Amino acid sequence: MRIETERLRLRPWQDRDLAPFALINADPDVRRFYYPSVLTTAETADVIAECDAHLEKHGFAFMALERKADAALIGGLGLSIAGEEISGGPHVEIGWILGSPYWRNGYALEAADACLRHAWAALGLTEVIGYTSRVNHPSRALMEKLGMKRDPAEEFDDVTVPEGNALRPHVLYRARPPG
Ligand SMILES: CC(C)(COP(=O)(O)OP(=O)(O)OC[C@H]1O[C@@H](n2cnc3c(N)ncnc32)[C@H](O)[C@@H]1OP(=O)(O)O)[C@@H](O)C(=O)NCCC(=O)NCCS
Repeated sequence: MRIETERLRLRPWQDRDLAPFALINADPDVRRFYYPSVLTTAETADVIAECDAHLEKHGFAFMALERKADAALIGGLGLSIAGEEISGGPHVEIGWILGSPYWRNGYALEAADACLRHAWAALGLTEVIGYTSRVNHPSRALMEKLGMKRDPAEEFDDVTVPEGNALRPHVLYRARPPG
């Protein structure tokens, strides 16, 4: 899986990505909607290894997101098989995380839109889901901007987050091919 847009490249992870991706995952602001929050460098290495294995097995994955102009690793974005907590699966989910210096440049929208078009045209998928904490307004707004639809009846609790934690209630969005 390789996707190029006007400004960005979505490509498999490389060794040189570990340091900048670990920096992104160590930032409490970037990780404020994740439970647990920040990751160590070793945990980021595990995430990358899981993405590599997923790519090998399924032909798609959560990938490295590189800016073409300067080859900077600006984050990660892509498709993966969703966890079994979402009923009616197996589902393919879209996800994203960008370093804060790169926010609000339209990068996530540009890459996610291309990723969804790849899901329909190249992978032949008929649905991609997205989910996040109810309070993750940036991600929710991005999903809405991508045209993803939410059924309020499908809200669910992420049971890996303790009861009473604001990150526990989750919203579910669905994207379908156009037409
Ligand atoms: C969510 C995230 C990927 C957005 O990345 P981004 O490159 O800044 O997003 P874009 O610039 O492409 O924005 C596209 C649209 O998303 C929405 N959006 C993005 N950031 C937003 C924010 N802080 N507040 C509200 N809406 C936001 C807007 O609708 C925006 O369109 P607009 O700029 O025309 O208003 C980024 O904020 C991030 O990495 N957050 C932390 C990681 C995270 O929470 N990941 C999801 C975990 S489930």
